[in-house]
Amino acid sequence: MHILTMDDLTNEEILQILRHAENYQHSITKITAPCYAANLFFENSTRTKSSFEMAQKKLGLDVLSFDAQTASIQKGESLYDTVKTLEAIGVDVAVIRHGEDRYFDQLEGRVKLSIINGGDGMGHHPSQCLLDLMTIQQEFSSFEGLAVTIVGDIRHSRVARSNASALRRLGAIVQFSGPKEWMDEELLGAGNYIDFDQAVETSDVLMMLRVQHERHTFGVSFEKDEYHALYGLTDERVKRMPAKSIIMHPAPVNRGVEIADEIVECERSRIFKQMTNGVFVRMAMLQFVLQKREELKHEFVN
Ligand code: CP
Repeated sequence: MHILTMDDLTNEEILQILRHAENYQHSITKITAPCYAANLFFENSTRTKSSFEMAQKKLGLDVLSFDAQTASIQKGESLYDTVKTLEAIGVDVAVIRHGEDRYFDQLEGRVKLSIINGGDGMGHHPSQCLLDLMTIQQEFSSFEGLAVTIVGDIRHSRVARSNASALRRLGAIVQFSGPKEWMDEELLGAGNYIDFDQAVETSDVLMMLRVQHERHTFGVSFEKDEYHALYGLTDERVKRMPAKSIIMHPAPVNRGVEIADEIVECERSRIFKQMTNGVFVRMAMLQFVLQKREELKHEFVN
């Protein structure tokens, strides 16, 4: 069992993971069987890597250290051989972040350890999506009919892709805003474009995205101040948000670009709450894949 994209989970399984994540906030049942995890991060990360490590430690898993900078991948070893090696020495679950879209296609069906995708290029980010869902559910109890606007660098965003798909399946009304040149035709087909100031005044959730300069190979660019004036969440815009609406951002935040510095920690912001929830959601994801592995083992033996 892997969790590579949100399509690997049914709606029932998503809600089950969210329920378990909520439970982990109050009490933790450790996994008692010996279990080994490794975190293979070939792209930079603070939140995803650290909170998977924290989740693994809270669950009582043994965590192998893996440093992409000093691993034999630097000598030309393939990702497949790297993962097969970890499997051969006894790793049960690997969390992998990689710059290549769908890097996992070369692994799926060829490895026995479980993979949780920690982010693939501009593709998918299921753990971010699940922690975002947990944060939204805590606020509004249900996803049905919620107006969620994802704002900014949609085209380069794995967060947008995972969230748009899952939120829509769960009944939310997903819209996109930001520079029209940065929209994604495929995603727009599944949600409307909305003017940013209109989105500010009508959305239950404003999900702001980081401008991912490292992935920009073409198209329109903006000076920081220009972007902030056109598409940034300023104090003036926040004052026009509906009463119970919230601000989210997967972070890292470019303070003063997507969101004004003083807004990052304002009363409507759930940005640091998202990070706290990330640990509980990742515990629930680990528990989910490990339980499925056990069930499959039993099916095989019987
Ligand atoms: N939100 C997120 O994926 O952050 P990191 O890149 O720090 O893991």
